[in-house]
Amino acid sequence: MPAGRDNHSMLAYRHAFHAGNHADVLKHTVLTQVLRHMAQKDKPYTLIDTHAGAGGYSLASPEAQKKGEFEHGILRLWDRTDLPPAVADYMDLVRAFNPEGGLGRYPGSPEFARQLLRPQDALRLFELHPADVQSLAAHHADRPRTEVHREDGFSGLRAQLPPPSRRGVVLIDPAYELKADYGLVVATVREALQRFAECVILVWYPQVTRLEAAQLPKRLKGLAQGPTVKGWLHARLTVQPLDNQGFGLAGSGMFVINPPWTLHAAMKASLPYLAKTLAQVPDAGFVLEQHAP
Ligand SMILES: C[S@@+](CC[C@H](N)C(=O)[O-])C[C@H]1O[C@@H](n2cnc3c(N)ncnc32)[C@H](O)[C@@H]1O
Repeated sequence: MPAGRDNHSMLAYRHAFHAGNHADVLKHTVLTQVLRHMAQKDKPYTLIDTHAGAGGYSLASPEAQKKGEFEHGILRLWDRTDLPPAVADYMDLVRAFNPEGGLGRYPGSPEFARQLLRPQDALRLFELHPADVQSLAAHHADRPRTEVHREDGFSGLRAQLPPPSRRGVVLIDPAYELKADYGLVVATVREALQRFAECVILVWYPQVTRLEAAQLPKRLKGLAQGPTVKGWLHARLTVQPLDNQGFGLAGSGMFVINPPWTLHAAMKASLPYLAKTLAQVPDAGFVLEQHAP
C-alpha cells in the first residue's frame, strides 16, 4: 500500500464540525445497508475503518453549532414519518444513540459498527488524531475483537487483508483536505483488491470543484473491473450546485466495490427522497449507477 502519513501535521480537519450533515446521511445509510447484508451469514467478518473519527459527536458542541451543518442533514429527517426503508433503518440507529429521545448526538461510523456487528465480527479502527483515538479506545473497550490503532489508515490496512475469516468490509473515509488523499485512495484500493479481491470496499468522496474529485469515481471504476471483482455501485447526492461552494459542500458520493446485490434497490428507493428532502436549492439531484458483471 502507498506510503501514507506518519506525522500529525495534517490533522486540521475535525469531523465534529460536519457530523450529521448530508454527506454523513448518505455515507451512513450506505454503510448500514452493507453491514446488514454482511450479517445475513453467520460466518464472521472484519470491518476495517481506515479513518474512524471520534465515533460520536455532540450536536450541542460549539463545533457542531458553528455552521449547523446537521440542521440541513439529519435534522431534516428526524421527525419525518415517510422515510424510505433504508433511511428508516439508518434513522433507527441514530435514535438508538439518543436514548433520551431528542436529537442531541450523532453517531460516527464506529458507532454504526458497534450497533451492527455481532460478537463474532472483528472491528479495526484507524485514526491519527490523539483525542479521537482516546475517545474510540474508551467507547470500544468493552467490545470483543476490537482494535483501535493510532496509525495511518491507508498503510495500516495492508496488515489487515485478507481477514482470517475471508469476509471483510473496508470503509475509506478521509478528509480530502490534501490533494494527495485522492491518489492515496486509488493506490490503497488497488492494493487492497490485489490482496483480497472479494473485499467489500466503500469509498466516500466529496463533490467539490477539484479535478481529482471529479476523476475519482472513474478511476475507481477502472480498478473494479477485474475478473475476480463482483462489480461496483456508485451513489452520489448533490444538494447544491458545485459553483455554490462558498455555502459548503455541494454533495458527496459513495463508491462501493463488491456491493451487496440488494444495495441498488435500497438506494434507488432512497436517493430521490434524500435529494428532495436535503436539497438546498431547486436543482439538487442524485446519481445511481452500477456495474454487475
Ligand atoms: C471524515 S473523518 C472520519 C469520519 C468517520 N469515518 C465517520 O463516518 O464518522 C476523517 C478522519 O480521518 C482522520 N485522519 C486524517 N488522516 C488520517 C490518516 N492518514 N489515517 C487515519 N486517520 C486519519 C481525521 O483525524 C478525521 O478524524
